[in-house]
Parts: sequence; structure tokens; C-alpha cells
Amino acid sequence: MKIAVHSTPEELARAAAAWLCARAADVAGGRFAVCLSGGSTPKRVYELLAREESGRLPWERTHWFFGDERFVPHDHPDSNYRMVRQAMFDAAPVPPANVHAIPTTGTPSAAAAAYAGELRDFYGAAALDSSRPLFDVMLLGLGEDGHTASLFPGRPALAEQTRWVVDTLSPKNEPRISLTYPVLASARNSVFLVAGRAKRDIVSRIWAGEDLPAARLAGAAHWFIDATANPR
Ligand code: 6PG
Repeated sequence: MKIAVHSTPEELARAAAAWLCARAADVAGGRFAVCLSGGSTPKRVYELLAREESGRLPWERTHWFFGDERFVPHDHPDSNYRMVRQAMFDAAPVPPANVHAIPTTGTPSAAAAAYAGELRDFYGAAALDSSRPLFDVMLLGLGEDGHTASLFPGRPALAEQTRWVVDTLSPKNEPRISLTYPVLASARNSVFLVAGRAKRDIVSRIWAGEDLPAARLAGAAHWFIDATANPR
């Protein structure tokens, strides 16, 4: 577990954007696959990627995926896709075919199955090979209850080891689509982006090894946190 404590959320975002661009440089010439986190913390990272850091990303060969989605229309205020579109896609030369949004029409289970198919098509195989990660970068957030993506405590989705994508529910029983652990873990580089005093306790509990959803991805990840979220 690699930890970087940044003085402010802005410094965290700037470091995370620069780190992601450096990972793109590691992938000389080939496709660069990034799985995006929703929520509020990563928004500034996306804004910086499309603006200050725009010249450092190979937009034509970078593909954008989502770790989870709220099952609402893509123009809904709660949509992760909408947040990323406004923060980044609308402000950068992103080929539309490189944006792999989670569908939110029809039924949640059909949308999950469709997205799993899109991931498999991109990967080029029906089974994940640990020696060939699906993503180059996995961006993860952390909820105050220890969730990440839409893997919430106590939900059956935590036990899913076969399906790549599942439909699930938030604690308020709002329908969500989420990648499952095997897929979230299939990344060359993963990073948790966590900021704010309200996250300090859950960060402490995750780092202490408490069995919470995010903990299962914590050990292999970089942690970009700000000073107010730092329990140490
Ligand atoms: C979502 C995210 C979720 C988020 C955490 C942290 O769809 O909301 O995928 O896992 O990363 O809830 O959210 P904040 O960054 O807003 O604290």
C-alpha cells in the first residue's frame, strides 16, 4: 500500500492527474484503459486532465470506463457519466468511441450484462488473466461506510466472483450498476482518491484491516489522500 498525503484536495487532484498521465506514458503506443470513479472527489482530477494536463494524455488511444453508475439517465444530476462528461469529455479531444459508459436504460440486470459484454469485447477474452490486466489504471473512491464503486457493506455483490458486472442497490435502495471485485482488481495500477475530514475514520479502519468492501482492494493500491483524511 503506497500512501501519499497531500496538503489540500487541490494538491491531491493535481498529483493524481500527473500520476495518471505518467501511467499513460508507461504504455507506449498501445491502448490506455482507464476505469473512472464516480462521486465528487475525482471531479477535479478530470477537470485538470482535460485542461492543464491535456497535452500529456494520448486522447486518441485512451479508453474510458466506469467502475460503477447510478441507474439514472445519463443527463440526470446523479449520473457519474454526466459528471465526467461535464468535467472532462466535453473539454477534451475524446473520440466518442473511446467512452464506454455504463448503460442505464432497460433493466438494471440487462444493463449490467450488456456492460460486461462491452468489457469482454474490449478485453478480447471471456475470462480475466491475472498476467494481462483489463485496465491500465483503476480510480477508486471511498465512502464513509467503507464502500467503493457500488460495492456496499452487506450486499450480495460483495460475494460475486463470476459475473464481471452486477446490478445492486445503495444503502438507500437506489439501483446501481457496479463492476465486481475480480474486474476492479484487474488493473495494472489502482489508486484510491480520498479527501475530507469525514473520511478520516473510515481510512483508519481500512488501514487497520477491518473487513470492509474497499479493504479488499486497499493493499495493492496507491492512496492519494489529503491531510484532513489522514488518520496518522
Ligand atoms: C459513486 C462512487 C462511489 C464514490 C464514493 C466516494 O458512484 O458515488 O463510485 O464509490 O467513489 O461514494 O464519493 P465522494 O468522492 O463523493 O466522497
